[in-house]
Amino acid sequence: MTNNHNKLADQFHKPQGSYFLTHSIGLMPRSTSNHLEQHYFEPWKSNGDDTWPNWLKAIEHYNQALAELFNSDAELFCPQSNVSSGLAKVIQSLPKRDGRKVIVASESDFPSAGFVLQQAQRYGFTLKLIPKTADLQSHDVWNDALTDDVHSVFITHVLYNTNARIPVEHVSKICRHRGIISMMDVAQSAGIVPIDLSKLAVDIVVGSCIKWLCGGPGAGFIWIRRDLVEELEPADVGWFSHQNPFEFDIGNFKYHETTARFWGGTPSVAAYVVATNSINLINEIGVPIIQKHNQTLNKIIRNSVPEEVISSPLDDAKSGGTVVLKFKKQDIVEQQIRAQGIQFDRRQYGIRLSPHIYNNAAEIERLIECFSTH
Ligand SMILES: Cc1ncc(COP(=O)(O)O)c(C=O)c1O
Repeated sequence: MTNNHNKLADQFHKPQGSYFLTHSIGLMPRSTSNHLEQHYFEPWKSNGDDTWPNWLKAIEHYNQALAELFNSDAELFCPQSNVSSGLAKVIQSLPKRDGRKVIVASESDFPSAGFVLQQAQRYGFTLKLIPKTADLQSHDVWNDALTDDVHSVFITHVLYNTNARIPVEHVSKICRHRGIISMMDVAQSAGIVPIDLSKLAVDIVVGSCIKWLCGGPGAGFIWIRRDLVEELEPADVGWFSHQNPFEFDIGNFKYHETTARFWGGTPSVAAYVVATNSINLINEIGVPIIQKHNQTLNKIIRNSVPEEVISSPLDDAKSGGTVVLKFKKQDIVEQQIRAQGIQFDRRQYGIRLSPHIYNNAAEIERLIECFSTH
């Protein structure tokens, strides 16, 4: 690894040993504490009446950081606590469409999203889950699932269990063509897969910043395509969802004309301040640079084991950032990895390993030595 890489890696606090759990929590940038002090505590300590304008500015910066990350406009984003609550609000707000009552999702989506989607039945929708056994990377699977009675589809961009990247470009295009609303979950792809919302045909995006964006918990977001916003009327609102939050007329609720209608009541400012600093750092380093580094390290991991051990896609173009490995002697391998102070976790399809910009080839070499007894 070069000096330049060391400099980038050094911008994050690293725990002892090697950390490969970014698919769960990305590491905290060293600049976070100062940033929080400056943009959250300082206005609170010293600005009295001016505290709220400062905090609201900080949230505008959050939307702007997201806009830069996804190549879109800040006003199309709305802060949310997490993916599940953002998605719940979206589901409540979906416009009725004659003859279309089905929401399509997949058994491989993150269960929390599935729990929310099941609630759509309260609003007269039927949920159809594409089975776990289907190949969600196959265009045919989506072509067949998106029938005339489908109202909307939920697409997880990168699956948490296999790390498969779903061909969202294709799926959202078919949806546009067939009059189906497309929703995309970017929790596992934001920060590791470049996403250009100005080019994708997707209608709604829900995401969070805790994983590859290294932005901590509590900072999620919704993005809505500009010409769809007015059709969406969430039930879960608050004064920040109002066209003019400071009007204070209890008899006159009017939806904000932008995605801000999904905002709700008083926001959790600290979480967004923390996340903004991280997204800015990721933007500064550049998602393509992080992805390239990740792919280089992932390739070393994949090349160190027989192909049948690898549960995640072999092709980088069809992957997120995680390698998933299932060994015959899984327990022994896991013990060996743990003994080396390497942090990872295990799901249905094997152990998950997620190298970020703060990991290096020497750590990967130590990791793959543990595979010798597979
Ligand atoms: C694909 C995916 N979506 C969503 C989430 C998390 O959802 P929430 O932000 O509601 O906790 C995860 C967490 O692992 C995930 O992997």
